[in-house]
Amino acid sequence: MADDPISRLVPFGARNASPTPDPDRPVDLRSDTVTRPTAGMRAEMAAAEVGDDVYAEDPTVNALEAEVAALFGHEAALFAPTGSMANQIAIQLLVPPGEELLCDADAHVVTYEIGAAAAIGGVSTRTWSPAGADLDPEVVAAMIRPDGYHAVPTRAIAVEQTHNRGGGGVIPLATLGELRRVADDAGIGLHCDGARIWHAHVADGVPLASYGELFDTLSVCLSKGLGAPVGSLVVGSAERIARARVIRKRMGGGMRQAGILAAAGRYALRHHVRRLAEDHARAARLADALAPFGVLAGPVRTNIVPLDLTKCGIEAAELAAAARDRGVLVSVLGPRAARLVTHHDLDDAGVELAVTVLTQIFRR
Ligand SMILES: Cc1ncc(COP(=O)(O)O)c(C=O)c1O
Repeated sequence: MADDPISRLVPFGARNASPTPDPDRPVDLRSDTVTRPTAGMRAEMAAAEVGDDVYAEDPTVNALEAEVAALFGHEAALFAPTGSMANQIAIQLLVPPGEELLCDADAHVVTYEIGAAAAIGGVSTRTWSPAGADLDPEVVAAMIRPDGYHAVPTRAIAVEQTHNRGGGGVIPLATLGELRRVADDAGIGLHCDGARIWHAHVADGVPLASYGELFDTLSVCLSKGLGAPVGSLVVGSAERIARARVIRKRMGGGMRQAGILAAAGRYALRHHVRRLAEDHARAARLADALAPFGVLAGPVRTNIVPLDLTKCGIEAAELAAAARDRGVLVSVLGPRAARLVTHHDLDDAGVELAVTVLTQIFRR
């Protein structure tokens, strides 16, 4: 990744400022959204040049949009307040009301976006069985329904890279290439929910532009592993992003002096992408320590450690309560499903504390 475009965003001598450890804060493994802006990030936010972004006059937002579009080899990008809004804008770009989006049953767009595709976009969704990153393009191809008035026509496919409920799994580039061919054969769109595409890029060493060329639209998040407080972008062609600007405004996402937020995102891209390898190593350390208890739900590729507690006789809520009492926070995803996520505000000492606490609980 020596010639990665991210490298070209890093000024000479730039340092990655680590968070100051705070003894009063628990080790928070619930999500990589819990990070707080670093001092360096806050300084750039405070100094950001701003303007009215609804008039497209905020120079910092414009710079961020141009940088992110270039990273993915697309013509344009649009800053949005959240990953959910960025996904829903992209879905509305690709699928007209009353027509269909295909995705997996565990996808964020149909699990955690509160029915927005239907409620806001009028979009019908149909899902294949959750398989996380183990996606079979032939299964998806067989689901596509043609244009016409007998059945709901399929207009687009969405995938998630990395896959959140799929335990941070990474869909191989070759599989995505096959899916692109499936979409092309059917003449339909392909969207990537790339909230954590940075993690896939770091884990597999795939250039962001190689992902970019496979998709008609991508949504990418600055506020997950990258540690910005707010912000996502929709990436696509100039024509689509011009339409995306209208949809964003309609959804109430037109922000004014948003350069303060975009500055955090630009800082995160320069300082916090390559360090994701540290988060992956810490997740691997957690997984190694917990594997002997038979609680791993699957292999750990990036920063998410999915736990399946069915064999260990403890409920996820019980685990979360016991860990919280000892200063470690974990996410409950279901009666026997939990999740640990590593991120920028977690250091080795925090991971070792979590290992001690969780292994004590599982040993009982
Ligand atoms: C895969 C994925 N997509 C989209 C989102 C939505 O991001 P936001 O919380 O900013 O709406 C998330 C949030 O965690 C996510 O994990």
